[in-house]
Amino acid sequence: MILQRRNRILRQSPAIRAMVAETILQPADFIAPLFIDEGENLVTEIASMPGYYRRSLDLTVKEVKELWGMGIKSVLLFIKCKDEWKDNTGKEAWNKHGLMQRSVKAIKEAVPEMVVMTDVALDPYSSYGHDGIVKNGEIVNDETVEALVRMSISHAEAGADFVAPSDMMDGRIGAIREGLEEHHFTKTGIMSYSAKYASCFYGPFRDALDSAPGFGDKKTYQMDYANRTEAIKETIIDVEEGADIVMIKPALAYLDIIREIKNAVDVPVSAYQVSGEYAMIKAAAKMGWLNEEKTILECLTSIKRAGADLIATYFAKEAVRLLNEK
Ligand code: PBG
Repeated sequence: MILQRRNRILRQSPAIRAMVAETILQPADFIAPLFIDEGENLVTEIASMPGYYRRSLDLTVKEVKELWGMGIKSVLLFIKCKDEWKDNTGKEAWNKHGLMQRSVKAIKEAVPEMVVMTDVALDPYSSYGHDGIVKNGEIVNDETVEALVRMSISHAEAGADFVAPSDMMDGRIGAIREGLEEHHFTKTGIMSYSAKYASCFYGPFRDALDSAPGFGDKKTYQMDYANRTEAIKETIIDVEEGADIVMIKPALAYLDIIREIKNAVDVPVSAYQVSGEYAMIKAAAKMGWLNEEKTILECLTSIKRAGADLIATYFAKEAVRLLNEK
């Protein structure tokens, strides 16, 4: 055969492949989610997330030091609230001395350069397990937004670098930005979960925080997975309202959305490889059906290739280890 073009030339050796690789993962791409519990010297493996843990604050601080030492630049904090502090207002969420506020302070004190992001949503604090205040069986928007503003300000006060609203209420980004401005938190960023879908892939996370909705589902605020145009609308509105970083969630089943949003906005785009994505890989690997290490790198590279500048992933540590071995 006489061929004009032989595409395999660029694939013939590891060195050439490395030279022409279009997508390269690096530790700074990853945001490590952390689950924090009350107590001391406590570490609990999450049943549906084998190899992932909920830790008391003292051990969380240790973990953050280790993550920083590995080159990971950002952590995303989630706390597990005691049942007796949950109610329908979610007021524990802006308790000055709450676990989230203490955690932010302790982490920033121990590793000042680590970029600390905090989850902003009422579900861990809600007696109904919903992301907002419930009235007559409905999740009410505007009162919830007021609560989220209070929560964001209290995180900023504690020293959070970014607040990350994951609730999908309307108008919350603009309201949070205004609240931060009014309180002179002009350096606090907002990473908005802009296109967050009502997804079955959050199941294991809800086990981790005991935050499953007590009634119904989250479909009146999280997005319908049938929709694409709506994701662009949501994201553009969040950018207009003041989001510094936008997020798509989950990741792997939504690569098309990541790409469209990447093409549509001029702010950094992040994607959340959620708990169910983690659990699927772990389960298949345990059965011997998939090679865990290869699957992790392929999925993370694909999420980045789709357009994610940042990836929140429970595999952050593992991925850095694998990249160092490569
Ligand atoms: C809460 C929140 C959820 C996740 C992040 N923030 C769960 C939910 O919306 O029910 C899911 C993360 C994961 O599954 O890894 N607002």
